[in-house]
Amino acid sequence: MKPEDEQADPGLLDLGTATTGTERSMATSIGEKDPESFTLVIIGASGDLTERKIVPALFDLYRKGEIPAPFRVVGCARTHLDDQGFREKMRKALGKKTRSSDAEWKAFAERLHYWSIDYSDESSFVALGTFLNSGVQGQGMAQNRIFYLAIPPSLCELTVGMIGRSGLAAEGTEGYGWSRIVIEKPFGRDLKSAAALDRSLHEHFNEHQIFRMDHYLAKETVQNILMFRFANAIFEPIWNRRYVDSVTIRALETLGVEHRAGYYEQAGVLRDMFQNHMMQLLALMAMDPPSAFEADRVRDEKVRVYRSLRPFPVGRLNDYLILGQYGPGVVRGKEVPGYREEPGVRPTSLIPTFASMRVFIDNWRWQGTPFYLTSGKRMGEKVTNITIQFKEVPHSVFRNVLGEHIAVNCLTMGIYPDERISLMFQTKHPGPRVSLTPVTMDFRYAQGQEDALMEAYEKLLLDCMLGDQMLFLRQDSVELCWSFLTPILNACETCSDRSEMLLFYESGTLDAEAVERLNRTRMVGI
Ligand code: BG6
Repeated sequence: MKPEDEQADPGLLDLGTATTGTERSMATSIGEKDPESFTLVIIGASGDLTERKIVPALFDLYRKGEIPAPFRVVGCARTHLDDQGFREKMRKALGKKTRSSDAEWKAFAERLHYWSIDYSDESSFVALGTFLNSGVQGQGMAQNRIFYLAIPPSLCELTVGMIGRSGLAAEGTEGYGWSRIVIEKPFGRDLKSAAALDRSLHEHFNEHQIFRMDHYLAKETVQNILMFRFANAIFEPIWNRRYVDSVTIRALETLGVEHRAGYYEQAGVLRDMFQNHMMQLLALMAMDPPSAFEADRVRDEKVRVYRSLRPFPVGRLNDYLILGQYGPGVVRGKEVPGYREEPGVRPTSLIPTFASMRVFIDNWRWQGTPFYLTSGKRMGEKVTNITIQFKEVPHSVFRNVLGEHIAVNCLTMGIYPDERISLMFQTKHPGPRVSLTPVTMDFRYAQGQEDALMEAYEKLLLDCMLGDQMLFLRQDSVELCWSFLTPILNACETCSDRSEMLLFYESGTLDAEAVERLNRTRMVGI
């Protein structure tokens, strides 16, 4: 019996999985190695990122046997806690995951430690260093460290300085191994502040030690974009302005701002989603093939895309950009407040929670092809996907018998919730008359794959342990994305009719289709 959604779609040609049986065992795996022994120091361990993402991802990696060497996790924050208190807090946060595997949890929990820290006191970091040096001998532990900054952006520069000045960034001296720092977005709030943050990082760390995190890059379906494009010979020849009419990249969410108003009121959707996730997806779709699948070769190609971005026509913002803010409404049957009624949000806030923009890439491959980027909170559906709309047939041989418009081919790369790739094309509708039916050829990741998809945080933590920067951002791309967005942000934030620019939408009403209609009515020339 097939799952319900497959039965419901008569036009679905099921391809199943691309690799089966012995083929699968021969599947090419890239970069297989084990991480060395390390200590992960989570700075800001009392915050919810540690509970929601970092520790659960580590525990899963541990359970899967992905961290075979001895390791320690040291949670640091201002809160006073002891090891036991920290372990208990993490156990509660993991919820059901721990109950099913008590023995594993106990063994994992023994590796969790806690150390209170004062962010503004250098001696507190020196003491942390002494603590990190202790208890390493005799346990097979090497002096390798990862400092994970799980703190608000306002504390990052200060903390980086403290880590550096107390000697914790040093590598290869007096028995130390490597030292790495993981930093979460946002990397600054504009070009100037991003450069300043980078200068602080580089005062103490070298580029190979810095891991700028963008969790979108580690989603399996996002990683697959390069495999799909460059491990198959048939797509690349049509991946250009000659065959592609437009590319749409959307990340729609049903969630609102949740408890993050403090941050979001400073950020808004352009800094929160576009500067990083959306621009990264754009680069993966538009870049040229790198000469090799190596971190810097791949990142070089992304940078070339950013360098080719056509400067945004800030004098004609409304023709290329739609900004919106959610009002009250109903999402998944539940009444939700508007953005301005959310705790911590100013009642007159003009911060956009939705944006849709059209960008162009001025190079030979993409000249004249629009890329639509859309992201918003409290939308009608949670969906992240990329659609490539191909051009119409150049000449319809059926024009005399068909009487209907031939819908164009579409390739959709589903990132969430449908992790799939679908190609829509036309077929003959069965029967005596000439008529067309669009059908979908479909590949679903989950179907028939032996290996469970790896969660983004697991993959990023693992890569950081391995020192692989492929899925982390390089500073030049961060700065180029800011160079593109900063003029837009300035124009939006200083324009006299700022509130008129903002579309106030009812929560739960804008789904992908509604956004498309909106683009067509508001942006010129579509
Ligand atoms: C984060 C943003 O980076 O990505 C959030 O700060 C957003 O505002 C989230 O909700 C979306 O991530 P995902 O993986 O749910 O699409």
